[in-house]
Amino acid sequence: MATIVCSHVDKAYGAVNVIKDFNLDVADQEFIVFLGPSGCGKSTLLRMIAGLEDISGGDVIIGGKTVNDLPPRDRGVAMVFQNYALYPHMTIYDNIAFGLKRMKISSPEIDTRIRAVSSTLGLDPYLDRKPNALSGGQQQRVAIARAMIKTPRVFLFDEPLSNLDAKLRNHMRVEIARLHQKLKTTTVYVTHDQLEAMTLADRIVLMKDGGIEQVGTPAEIYERPRTLFVAGFIGTPNMNFIDAMVKANGDGWLLCVEGASFAVSGRRFSLSDGQKIVLGIRPADLEAAAAGSTEINCVTGKADLVEFHGNDALVTFLFADKEIGALVKAGGCPKPGDDVRFVVNEGRMHLFDRQTGLTLLA
Ligand SMILES: Nc1ncnc2c1ncn2[C@@H]1O[C@H](COP(=O)(O)OP(=O)(O)OP(=O)(O)O)[C@@H](O)[C@H]1O
Ligand SMILES: [Mg+2]
Repeated sequence: MATIVCSHVDKAYGAVNVIKDFNLDVADQEFIVFLGPSGCGKSTLLRMIAGLEDISGGDVIIGGKTVNDLPPRDRGVAMVFQNYALYPHMTIYDNIAFGLKRMKISSPEIDTRIRAVSSTLGLDPYLDRKPNALSGGQQQRVAIARAMIKTPRVFLFDEPLSNLDAKLRNHMRVEIARLHQKLKTTTVYVTHDQLEAMTLADRIVLMKDGGIEQVGTPAEIYERPRTLFVAGFIGTPNMNFIDAMVKANGDGWLLCVEGASFAVSGRRFSLSDGQKIVLGIRPADLEAAAAGSTEINCVTGKADLVEFHGNDALVTFLFADKEIGALVKAGGCPKPGDDVRFVVNEGRMHLFDRQTGLTLLA
């Protein structure tokens, strides 16, 4: 097992910089997830760590050793891709053995290692089959077996589950989590699926345009998004954003929105009089207000859409020219056309500067 350090890593294709001064320390045994929208540079970074892609600047250090000039096979990494491309004419056994045979490892040794890996991944019943006689999830496990059998110091996964249907994805996600619990191999896992990121990661590296927006535990990123981008990317249904203007109000502040205002104390946020901000509220943090209540910090409107989600329902309405979603208990939820009124607790408000997009948490 090993630590990974990316120090001032750059990647340019011609004149285009796709990774810009990327810095990250991955601890031994850590499960790191690179999360971000398509094209933000996740795969490029992973491939640079693997050695499949040259780096244009900076250093990649694995287990204390700079590996910039080492070929992939000498880095102690094993990679699992989205397209796991098993050899169709070979049995599962031979598919898993393939890499080891090329490394001239003896057959008895290969056999011992295959038995161990195959039992860990529940592949024993399939070893004599060809890949086309396996389900997608089983084939994916073979691809993981092929990576695991090299007993790498580092696992690199690039969207390994995106070709699977939703149910299999959930299942494989749990299997990958179990595998990491058992082997504790340092892992970097690329995905654009936030559920995968939230459930698997020790820490998430949220990327945008080749740079890091925020690094933190899933809870940190969810509870304290550093930027508007992070706030909008993490959490389903998406966070609501309302434009507001700050006014001094005694010891605290008023966030003024057309037709409403929200009071916040002076301690939680660093604000200034007249500042233009964005108030972010997660749909689950809007609480139904008692009918006719005169509470402040209310978001009100007329229910437009009501989507049934099972336990919950998502009520959509217009407030201050923005479409707002509120997640409520499905039982007794409003109907389209009903007047709705929700309170938002100061502790659940997220404030960002409208110009910089940065959090205003003190
Ligand atoms: N060989 C190349 N030449 C030029 N540009 C490239 C090359 N490979 C990748 N890029 C660009 O680098 C950027 C990052 O690509 P990358 O594949 O790392 O994105 P990604 O985050 O993995 O996206 P996705 O989620 O779609 O897989 C993209 O804008 C892409 O167009
Ligand atoms: Mg990619």
